[in-house]
Amino acid sequence: MKFEGKTAIVTGAARGIGFEISRQLAEGGATVVMVDVLEDVLKASAEKLLAAGAKPVLTYKVDVTDEAAVEKMIEDVAEKLQRIDILVNNAGITRDDLLLRMEVKDWDLVMAVNLRGTFLMTKHAARYMIRQRAGRIVNLASVSGLVGNPGQANYSASKAGVVGFTRTVARELARRNVCCNAVAPGFIDTDMTQVLPDKAKEMALAAIPMQRMGTAAEVAKVVCFLASDDAAYVTGHVLPVDGGMAP
Ligand code: NAI
Repeated sequence: MKFEGKTAIVTGAARGIGFEISRQLAEGGATVVMVDVLEDVLKASAEKLLAAGAKPVLTYKVDVTDEAAVEKMIEDVAEKLQRIDILVNNAGITRDDLLLRMEVKDWDLVMAVNLRGTFLMTKHAARYMIRQRAGRIVNLASVSGLVGNPGQANYSASKAGVVGFTRTVARELARRNVCCNAVAPGFIDTDMTQVLPDKAKEMALAAIPMQRMGTAAEVAKVVCFLASDDAAYVTGHVLPVDGGMAP
């Protein structure tokens, strides 16, 4: 029970990688706070964890781009659970299009959820971690943010931003024993990738040395490692989980 006595907040927890991270943290004994905008899916996912024997799970319908809502939620969590040990900034979206066709609204939305959301959650949760002199932050970047990907100028820029943000937060908070790392998944089988056209899936698969998509569980395992005491002396790193895609 690696996470016994720990509290963990996971954003984008209703489904996909975020749900799997929540499941594995709960399995390890953590009290998990699940955050998402999809209220019904979130409730149903929390029920699944409880049915599997998880500790009481808190759910919040919060949009991570909304600072007032984020701040209020974090205060509420801190009051109810007394501590915030782990934060996983997993909420993320894509709005793919080629550069010349990409609309400003899709640029802004992707930046807002993936980058501003990560900033807001981290800023407000870090207050408590600094006071505790302990904390672990794990951000979801992407291989797209490391090497680029046609059709994802907005997404890859936001994820490259997450990488820079991770490295800076790690340096700012290291003296307070708060670690901040990121994982960079490659091509993972979730709702996000299921909607891609077959041609795009074929091209993505051809670029993976291991020649298969990853699973949400495989990404969650690495997130949980970085969130655990096994990674106590690791901070400011970006770990690809991508079947060999990243150079
Ligand atoms: P997903 O689309 O299945 O799940 C994302 C979750 O985030 C959804 O439940 C969604 O409702 C939630 N969300 C979206 N906007 C939100 C907001 N404003 N506030 C709160 N919650 C919000 O995606 P998936 O595949 O599970 O991705 C999880 C993370 O992993 C994302 O950050 C994504 O960019 C990253 N990633 C995924 C890859 C993949 O191949 N699936 C590859 C690389 C990175």
